[in-house]
Amino acid sequence: MPILGLNLNPEFISVCNNTTWAIGEIAMQMEMQPYVGVVLPNLVEIINRPNTPKTLLENTAITIGRLGYVCPQEVAPQLQQFIRPWCTSLRNIRDNEEKDSAFRGICVMIGVNPAGVVQVSRCVIKAVEATEDVQLTPFWK
Ligand SMILES: *[C@@H]1O[C@H](CO)[C@@H](O)[C@H](O)[C@H]1NC(C)=O
Ligand SMILES: *[C@@H]1O[C@H](CO)[C@@H](O)[C@H](O)[C@H]1NC(C)=O
Repeated sequence: MPILGLNLNPEFISVCNNTTWAIGEIAMQMEMQPYVGVVLPNLVEIINRPNTPKTLLENTAITIGRLGYVCPQEVAPQLQQFIRPWCTSLRNIRDNEEKDSAFRGICVMIGVNPAGVVQVSRCVIKAVEATEDVQLTPFWK
């Protein structure tokens, strides 16, 4: 995981993209708590970078969501640092398993740190409403 963290360098888009994807997949299988600190700061920086390619943004948003799903206590305190670009990048992608886990992660994190999304709550609600098949009961209903 520390080596993957070093490869989260957006100067090398394809490597960065694949690394991001791999971290998100591994997060669904392995205990990530010890590693959030070595990957999350880079992911947050990438999602906030201007001119990040759209597909890298989407992959990054999915991986942050998945990390939050498995480690909400570690990731939720950072919500404010990534929620706006997270929201805009995932709002329009097609529903699939990756998106599903990422949205579950955001819901769990909002439960831990609701103050982190207050300023962008409209965006989050719109993003959830835009999913075709919401299996979760949104916490605000
Ligand atoms: C990033 O990876 C996704 C698949 O996970 C792929 O569809 C996309 O084209 C890749 N984007 C870049 C910029 O390499
Ligand atoms: C990223 O993954 C894709 C799909 O598996 C692969 O075709 C591509 O060569 C990989 N990029 C790098 C830089 O290894």
